[in-house]
Amino acid sequence: MIRLIAAIDARRGLARDDTMPWHLPEDVARMRQLLEGKDVLVGQKTLESFGKHLPVGATFFTAHRGMDFPAFFAEHPDAWVAGGEQVYAATIAYADELYLTEIAQDYNCDKFFPEYQQDFALVQQEPRDGYTYSVYQRHTL
Ligand SMILES: NC(=O)c1ccc[n+]([C@@H]2O[C@H](COP(=O)([O-])OP(=O)(O)OC[C@H]3O[C@@H](n4cnc5c(N)ncnc54)[C@H](OP(=O)(O)O)[C@@H]3O)[C@@H](O)[C@H]2O)c1
Repeated sequence: MIRLIAAIDARRGLARDDTMPWHLPEDVARMRQLLEGKDVLVGQKTLESFGKHLPVGATFFTAHRGMDFPAFFAEHPDAWVAGGEQVYAATIAYADELYLTEIAQDYNCDKFFPEYQQDFALVQQEPRDGYTYSVYQRHTL
């Protein structure tokens, strides 16, 4: 099962000026917990932005252009993809599930998560104050 995990705002925004313009410590803690001990694929920029929030015991793999995604995901069938914009765009076609923290507000972002509503169905929702933890699964035909 390949999973993408992201926090997105009301317009699917991921970041502005290369930082996340919201402060949601509970969401960061949850993300670290979900990624603990997992194989995690990220872009170099995202890896650098994790800083002290690096999940414990996760094995990180850095995505690069020209990468053989089918081979990577075959070797790491339970991998999580943790961003950023370019890496989500390149990998959403391989995703079985999306773990999205959907924030109600628009933060005028300049980086975006790809469109997902057409191909994925909402299967789980956990409302919080101003945001929702949502899980989507790819539609099966
Ligand atoms: N809201 C969230 O949940 C969330 C999560 C993660 C990150 N972010 C934000 O996203 C931003 C970073 O995103 P970004 O798009 O600038 O950078 P990124 O996706 O983290 O990394 C960019 C790198 O990915 C590689 N790449 C580009 N296209 C690719 C492709 N088609 N296949 C495989 N690898 C590819 C490139 O490496 P090479 O140059 O080596 O080819 C590129 O340098 C940061 O501001 C961060 O805060 C937000």
